[in-house]
Amino acid sequence: EKPKPGPVQSIGPDYRSPSQKPQATVSTEVPFETVTVLPQTPQLIALLSKIRDVNTDRGDFIFYSNRIIRLLVEEGLNHLPTVQHTVTTPVGRPYEGLSFEGRICGVSIMRAGEAMEQGLRDCCRSVRIGKILIQRDEETAQPKLFYDKLPEDIADRWVLLLDPMFATGGSAIMAVEVLKSRGVPEDHILFLNLIASPEGINNFATKFPKLRVVTAFVDQGLDEKNYIIPGLGDFGDRYYTM
Ligand code: URA
Repeated sequence: EKPKPGPVQSIGPDYRSPSQKPQATVSTEVPFETVTVLPQTPQLIALLSKIRDVNTDRGDFIFYSNRIIRLLVEEGLNHLPTVQHTVTTPVGRPYEGLSFEGRICGVSIMRAGEAMEQGLRDCCRSVRIGKILIQRDEETAQPKLFYDKLPEDIADRWVLLLDPMFATGGSAIMAVEVLKSRGVPEDHILFLNLIASPEGINNFATKFPKLRVVTAFVDQGLDEKNYIIPGLGDFGDRYYTM
């Protein structure tokens, strides 16, 4: 079955009538409560248009990807628990607010996931970050775990799993199995990615019904080489080497 074209929607501020707004392709809807797609705002669509464009050079690709990563991290943090916390302002008045509860860590799936580490550090000072290297086994064509280095107390932390492109979900599923084998409960894992495929989301949500996914966009599908379409090509190559 051929992937259908993505839904098109008028995008722009409410003070403009639909006829005054430009149309853009927005994220495909997915039927899972555990999946959060970032609001399809003009900013996000413009940022995604930059990084999807084959003519965007590496400097711009990094700059605009980093802006989307920041949005993903900020949204991901909204899914962590908070407690009531009242502070006193400099004019002597109380403000009934919140503070974060619980400890977190990041885990990047190498190499592309490492591009998301700085965005996490920018929001969470001195956050611990672990790494997992999964590559396709040349003989079996299945994903294989090559390396992992994770915080020792990871079972007591909320884990933000980082990988920008969520294609078939093969690597992410293996990464989650590693985290679970170290004692991390499934509902303490948040998987952050820039672009997801409906196939990846389906595979994941069926296998890990309690694990949350935060993505900027769900694309149309996968091509015969398992690249996301329309996608943006190879994220790692464009961020690190092109
Ligand atoms: N990884 C990428 O970098 N791009 C894709 O489209 C799929 C996986």
